[in-house]
Amino acid sequence: MKTSELTYVFPKDFWWGSASSATQMEGYSKADGKGPNIWDYWYETEPNRFFNGIGPNHTSQFYSRYEEDIKLLKETGHNSFRFSISWSRMFPEGRGKVNEKAVHFYNQVINRLLDNEIEPFVNLYHFDMPLALQNEGGWESRSVVEAYVEYAGTCFALFGDRVQKWFTHNEPIVPVECGYLYGHHYPAIVDFKKAVQVAFHSMLTSAKAIEKYRSLSLPGKIGIILNVTPSYPRSEHPADLDAAEKADLLFNRSFLDPSVKGEFPQKLVEMLEEEGFLPSYELGDLDIIRENTVDLLGINYYQPRRVKAKEHLPNRNAPFMPEFYFDTYDMPGKKVNPYRGWEIYEKGIFDILKNLQENYGNIECFISENGMGVENEERFINSEGIIQDEYRISFYKDHLKWVHQAIQEGANVKGYHVWTFVDNWSWLNAYKNRYGLVSVDLDQNYKRTIKQSGYWYKELATNNGF
Ligand code: NOJ
Repeated sequence: MKTSELTYVFPKDFWWGSASSATQMEGYSKADGKGPNIWDYWYETEPNRFFNGIGPNHTSQFYSRYEEDIKLLKETGHNSFRFSISWSRMFPEGRGKVNEKAVHFYNQVINRLLDNEIEPFVNLYHFDMPLALQNEGGWESRSVVEAYVEYAGTCFALFGDRVQKWFTHNEPIVPVECGYLYGHHYPAIVDFKKAVQVAFHSMLTSAKAIEKYRSLSLPGKIGIILNVTPSYPRSEHPADLDAAEKADLLFNRSFLDPSVKGEFPQKLVEMLEEEGFLPSYELGDLDIIRENTVDLLGINYYQPRRVKAKEHLPNRNAPFMPEFYFDTYDMPGKKVNPYRGWEIYEKGIFDILKNLQENYGNIECFISENGMGVENEERFINSEGIIQDEYRISFYKDHLKWVHQAIQEGANVKGYHVWTFVDNWSWLNAYKNRYGLVSVDLDQNYKRTIKQSGYWYKELATNNGF
């Protein structure tokens, strides 16, 4: 298609791709010397927590099918692809001896991607703490900070000659919320003080990994991937505004500010100090955070947070929660994904990008995840066996219009990655919600079939617009 026939044209060399993670797609969780991580352990000990009893050993089997999948990446128009390295595949004990079979596997994946002119975007931590390190306290523990830096440095040294986009963490708020506040992920602890320690250590490890990366003088860039959830106040009333600001400080700025500006917001520090929740740290930690900010920021966006002032005083006998500061509410008339229930608010993506432009030095960024989960998606299969996911195409287009608008207004946005490529396993929900451009049939030996959205994505990337 000629550029003149397109309504939304994106900048030259825009990154079109998708994101994935090791635990969610590799499978083979015990093969070739991989050590257990917290997911393998939880599944072995409590399989009923997982939807339909499907665990991390039955994900889409990228470990053995990566060649086929890389061909499919090409067929769906990717010029870039994010995956994560499994820490416990590389270091079965979390530190110490490197597993050579894992090195071979990741070398193969990187090399095949490059042969196909698909740029590898590599993330180091995607919710998959090695069990051996969780047994030392996981992100709560200082010894794990050092183990992470060893893991990161090893990956940079082994793969950094070819990988030029690195990310230290994906959504560091998730291990904090899910693992230490709401009990959704192992270790399912409910303890605000520990949650703050975990958040602090994830920021410290990010900065230490960046420092390590820069000391190696490698040719690429390094950043972090954050799920920024815009907090919209119910009204302009000062109490609603204050509640929305606190939600923003706790869930967004606690990661965004140290990553991009090298410091924690003063107001956040005061809030935590007032409740006696400041984390413990060592002399020099704050300097490391200050001196090692990111080159590049990935933004995952799914839905906003609608916030109002608290209507009732929190129960001080209950465990302390972020919700002690604010309430959330269902905005009347909000648009909802009918197949999953999450709010859809496309302009949120624009608001995030403009905020980065205006308040974060217009840092180089890209949309690192955006996508639509759908339950029972097989109901949309046509007679040729292809899922007709027009709803997903509209979802992408409606968000991309706002990304385009932000770029027109000067935001420094370099690409757009969808979540995700092949339908994958989503933590406790396993295969309940499907997100892929390509479907996977668990009953037919993980057979892949490109969905309508996959064909559309190819056209989008080829035309560099729509
Ligand atoms: C964010 C996470 O990075 C990913 O692991 C998850 O499956 C998707 N969002 C979808 O919820």
